[in-house]
Amino acid sequence: MMQFDGGVAVVTGAASGIGRALVREAARRGMSIAAADIDASHLATLAGEFGPDRCLTATVDVSNEDRVNQFADEVWARFGRVDLLCNNAGVLHAGGVCETSSERWRQVVEINLFGVLYGVRAFLPPMLRRGMAAHIINTASSAGLTATPLLGPYTVSKYGVVALSETLLFELQAMQAPIGVSVVCPGAVATQVARNASATPGATQVTEWLHSGVAQGMTATRCAEIIFEQAAAGRFWIFTHPEMLAEVDARTQGMHEAPAPIYVPPAGGSGR
Ligand SMILES: NC(=O)c1ccc[n+]([C@@H]2O[C@H](COP(=O)([O-])OP(=O)(O)OC[C@H]3O[C@@H](n4cnc5c(N)ncnc54)[C@H](O)[C@@H]3O)[C@@H](O)[C@H]2O)c1
Repeated sequence: MMQFDGGVAVVTGAASGIGRALVREAARRGMSIAAADIDASHLATLAGEFGPDRCLTATVDVSNEDRVNQFADEVWARFGRVDLLCNNAGVLHAGGVCETSSERWRQVVEINLFGVLYGVRAFLPPMLRRGMAAHIINTASSAGLTATPLLGPYTVSKYGVVALSETLLFELQAMQAPIGVSVVCPGAVATQVARNASATPGATQVTEWLHSGVAQGMTATRCAEIIFEQAAAGRFWIFTHPEMLAEVDARTQGMHEAPAPIYVPPAGGSGR
């Protein structure tokens, strides 16, 4: 089991929210950091916090496979090892299945799902060649396990991250590789995710609803602590709010019993 008390952590979406908290938790545990984000100015602030010896920062759009591959080369050239890969970058979009443009559908899925895939494809082969214990943490969402109306592209992408992570875990198990996998399904965490969201004209109330939910959520710091604790304990499924499993149980129960599921909004707002 990995303890994450040294070595190198790679974090995408590192300039804000959960990603920034993952960087700080990794640093607190003595790890060096490779931090990637599309937001250069917040990334510069992060670099100032740790200094260049400890922290490599790179402006990376995770939906650009060539750039992700280049970032991986930069990280290996600089540190020669990767012990932890956190594919965390993600964006939220609210809008109906038909009201959201195909272009926006594609962008959200390319960032949230292909971004994780590109991270895995760029970093895993050299991690395997190195042959040392390492771990991959992919950030999905509670939206990776239950669907919400007007969050189609986000939900599709997050179900995809869950499916990709399970597939990857099984492939690594079959190879008896020393690389672990976790998938994080956070509930509400107080970050900028809903403020940074896009919405079609008819769905702006959804991002407001989400913002009020996440604003009351757990701190990103606590979320990052939970992620590290549970990954260190070897857990694949990481839930920040295990009570959300009641929604998953109800979904599964409905598969046995109900002709079709009926959406019931979660009480008291929600993070996705
Ligand atoms: N906050 C919550 O309640 C919550 C709940 C469930 C899942 N999540 C997931 O957690 C992850 C982190 O989100 P957060 O809540 O910290 O939000 P956030 O908006 O505060 O941070 C997301 C970061 O990702 C970066 N990013 C966006 N697009 C990118 C791209 N193309 N390439 C590289 N970086 C990019 C942003 O610049 C930002 O720094 C996301 O995957 C999100 O879906 C968050």
